[in-house]
Parts: sequence; C-alpha cells; structure tokens
Amino acid sequence: MASDQENVGHVKQQLAKLFETSLRATVPEELDVEPLVAACTAKFGDYQCNNAMSLWPRIKGKKTEFRGPPAVGQALMKNLPSSEMVEACSVAGPGFVNVTLSKNWIAKIIQKMLIDGIETWAPRLSIQRVVVDFSSPNIAKEMHVGHLRSTIIGDTLARMLEFSNVEVLRRNHVGDWGTQFGMLIEFLFEKFPDWESASGTAIGDLQAFYKASKQKFDEDPVFKERAQKAVVRLQGGEPRYRSAWAQICDISRREFDGVYQRLEVSLEEKGESFYNPYIPGVLEKLSNLGLVEESEGARVIFVEGYERPVIVVKKDGGYNYASTDLAALWYRLNIEKAEWIIYVTDVGQSEHFQMFFKAAKRAGWLPDDDKAYPRASHVGFGLVLGEDGKRFRTRSTEVVRLADLLDEAKARSKAALVERGKDKEWSEEELDKIAKAVGYGAVKYADLKNNRTTNYTFNFDQMLNDKGNTAVYLLYAHARICSIIRKSGKDIEELKKTGSIALNHPDERALGLHLLQFAETVEEACTNLLPNVLCEYLYNLSENFTKFYSNCQVVGSAEETSRLLLCEATAIVMRKCFHLLGIVPVHKL
Ligand code: ARG
Repeated sequence: MASDQENVGHVKQQLAKLFETSLRATVPEELDVEPLVAACTAKFGDYQCNNAMSLWPRIKGKKTEFRGPPAVGQALMKNLPSSEMVEACSVAGPGFVNVTLSKNWIAKIIQKMLIDGIETWAPRLSIQRVVVDFSSPNIAKEMHVGHLRSTIIGDTLARMLEFSNVEVLRRNHVGDWGTQFGMLIEFLFEKFPDWESASGTAIGDLQAFYKASKQKFDEDPVFKERAQKAVVRLQGGEPRYRSAWAQICDISRREFDGVYQRLEVSLEEKGESFYNPYIPGVLEKLSNLGLVEESEGARVIFVEGYERPVIVVKKDGGYNYASTDLAALWYRLNIEKAEWIIYVTDVGQSEHFQMFFKAAKRAGWLPDDDKAYPRASHVGFGLVLGEDGKRFRTRSTEVVRLADLLDEAKARSKAALVERGKDKEWSEEELDKIAKAVGYGAVKYADLKNNRTTNYTFNFDQMLNDKGNTAVYLLYAHARICSIIRKSGKDIEELKKTGSIALNHPDERALGLHLLQFAETVEEACTNLLPNVLCEYLYNLSENFTKFYSNCQVVGSAEETSRLLLCEATAIVMRKCFHLLGIVPVHKL
C-alpha cells in the first residue's frame, strides 16, 4: 500500500528498508521475500523482524549454510546495514531479530517534525483518488443513528486519506429515487394544492408527512393506484412530477445539511437519481458480456457463492438498489477514475455489497484479488444499542432524531462546565464553543473507539465522563499540555529553533517512541479502514504523556527546554489525531 518515497517519520518503513538490504545479502536467491517488521512490546527492543521463521522452511531443503531459524536470524542481524536509527540488535527465541532504536535518533526526528510540520509525517499511499460513499440517508425518511455512524466513520476515513495526500470524493449517495416518491407526490398534490407557491414550507415535518402518505397508500386502493402511476410519470420526466419530487428532496436536504453543518462534515450529494440515466447503458454492457440472464420474469446476474442472483431489472421493468449501485460503480471507475471505492453502511447490507462486487468482478471491472486496485470495499458497522440492549430508541419508541441527540450532548457538556464554574471564567461565546466541541466530540469518539463491526451501547454518562477512554478525558489531556506550555512563559516557537530534545529518562523515551509511531498508525487505520486503531493510539499517547509528566518535572527543571519541546510535540500529534477523528481540540478546559 505504501509508496516507495522515503518518509523519515515512518519508523516501520525505514526499518523495513534496512532489513530488505539484509535479506538480499543473507538469502540472495530468495528475491521475492518481503521484510516482516513489526513494533513489539517485549523488553528486548522496540521493533522486531520476523523473517527468519518463515524463511527457514523455504531454504532448508536447498544448499544452505544455516542450521535452523535462529541462525538465519543471526545472519539477518549481522547483515543489517549500519544506521543512525539503530542502537542495538539481538536475536531471541526462535529467531526474532529485535531492534532497539537510538534515542538520539528519535529525538532528532521529533525535532525535525517540530520545524517542518506534522504533514511531513503523513503516510504516502500508492493511490491517487478514492471515493468514500458515506452517510447516504433516504429522502423523506428518518436520518437515524445508523446514518450517524456512517457519517462519523466515513468522515474519519476520508480525513485520514486526505491527510495521506489522496484525493477523496466524499459522496452522499442519498436515496432520492424509488417507488415511495409516487405516493409522496400524490399526497402532496392532494394535501397542498398550492404546493408550488408554498415552496416546501407547507409540508413542515417531512417524516410525519411520509407516515401519513404511507397510511393512505396502505388503506386506500384508489390512492395506491394513482401513486403507482405517479412513479411512472416521474420516471418519464413529466415536469409537474419532477418539480414536486425536487421540492420534497429539498426539504430533506435542508434537514440533512443541518446535521452535517453541526458535525462539520462535508459531503457532495450524488444521489441515486444521478445514476439513473446511466443504468440502461451499463446493463447493456453487462448483457453484451453475457452476464445478464432471465429468471422468473426478472433480469438477473448470478454470482459465485450465492443461490439467489443479483436482480438488475425487476419483473415490472423497474430498476432497483443494485442496478443503481452497478451504474454508480461503473461511473466511479470510468468517469471519476477512482482507484478505491469505499462504502460505509451497517453490516446488514454486506450481502448486497459482496454480491454486486462479485458481479463487477465477473464483468472484469474489478480484479479477483480483493487487495488489488481498482478496489471496492464495504466498511460495515454494527448497531447502536440503548441501555436495554435493544436497538437505540427514545422512550416514545420512535427512532432517535439525530439533531436532538447532538443537542443533548452539547447541553450536558455545557451543564458540566457550568458546574465547574466555567461560565464565570469564560465568555458566553467561549463556553458555547467549548461545550459544543466536547459534546459532539464525545458522541463521535464513543462511536469511533470501538471496532466498527461490533454493536455499541449509546450512553451519555459514559461518553461524557472525564475519566477513562473518552473524548472528554483526551481533550482534558490536550488542554493540560497547552496550559503547561502557557504557564512556562516561554516562547515555544523560539524554543523550536534554538532548543533540542534529549530522551534520557525512560518515560521521556517511551513518549518519544510513541510519537514516532503516529505515521504507521494512521497508515494502518486508513488502509485497514479501522478508525479505532487511531483512537487507541491517541489514548495510549495520553497515557504515555501522563506517565512522563508524573515522573519528569517540566517547568523549572534543568531539562525544561527539552521537556517543553516534548510537550509541544505531544500536543501537535494529539491535535492531528483529533482532527483526523473529526473532533475539535480545545486549548483550555
Ligand atoms: N441509502 C442507503 C441506506 O440508508 C445507504 C446507501 C449506501 N451507499 C450505496 N452506494 N449503496 O441504507
């Protein structure tokens, strides 16, 4: 995944290069062996190279001077080119080569980052353009907590890829097309004959409107027939139907945008309707390849591993979710020239994605190897649960409204700040800004810190707790570092130019090493599509800092300059983590 360009902040990559040289010298015949380097938690070193064990079975049959994996490990160690980054090496157990990094080198790299900026630590990926298809609520229906998860996870993935210098097309694939519009339009005509002049204000609550029209649809056969005809007239492009549809979409859009603005998530809407004109052509291409078959009156594509086929044209001649997704995939690959298309929805939709990915493979649009590019990935996530362990709902058993949920998070965090007397210390504007950062940050972090495939329980008290693995705790940690630097009275920009870092205390070294693992962590989180990996890193960073700060006096000590610089580097990396997670850092709390 990583490109070949040198990245000094990327320890694993740098070490892999050294071990690659060593591998070529140790086993010159085994040209396709890639270095296996990983960070380790053992006492013996900071990183280890694991090639000896897997190399052994490959070479033992051949003419070799080695007598088992430990000897291969010894040779790998001996052939390691000398480098300022390595302080010591040893071989342990069955042949692990352990590497201890030089603390002076760690210090030097951190100092360089302080001057050149954290952007120089960004991962470098081998791809140029990615589509992240996320949020994607449905018009006139509730934007529920599932969509909140998709919005939060998708935004983080997009941010990490953008940081890695990949162009990201942030796509909102809204459900703005389908049979429900026939019923909505007819209901609009009936309830609000002057709908055109009222421009949407008449409808008011769109969800209530949806419910009422659905009820009529189910109860009134005459209305039902009219609604079904309306779908055809809409799809045929009749102007009155088109503009009624556009008005309904607009109302929904305004509501969605309100949520995006609050969350500071940017998205570009290309809804299902956008791909509609492309469907016939795309299906023709698939037909010409001999992929489309007739089955029980529908047109379908059979894919390996599934008995049911992917339906691409329904019995009644209409298109569906899958036809739209196939057209959208074709568009993204061929018109937008994306190399990686990432879909963020609940795991309940995985079968849909796996099936149409397989159809795309049959068509030769995607390679068989799931890791090769162009690539399509489904990022599935679990349910949000309430305290009762069931799907998250409010007391009225309605699905939770996103806007209410965010309001409550902010209100609660504000109340906690007022309780601590911050309303007397800060201006009203500051209080509001910080309450928002903390409240929304808490909601986002509570979602992102879990492995996304598991369900998680939504609990305000837990997510707003200032202890434990929460955004509040982490924001506190950051604010505390800022205050240490402020209170020192030193000009930190000046120190960056004149001072230097020394990592003599074990807790200083541990913190420094952790800072240096930022680049490889972001790379892992975004290539494996797992934001929780970055959350864990951030939490550990904060723990490392606390340990350092408890054991190493900063202000007033002989090491003050070095330690202030270490504080500053920690704050910079933390802020970048917050930014990548879509959380607004605060400088005081
Ligand atoms: N609108 C869908 C839903 O609410 C999600 C769309 C996901 N994207 C896609 N290309 N299918 O479930």
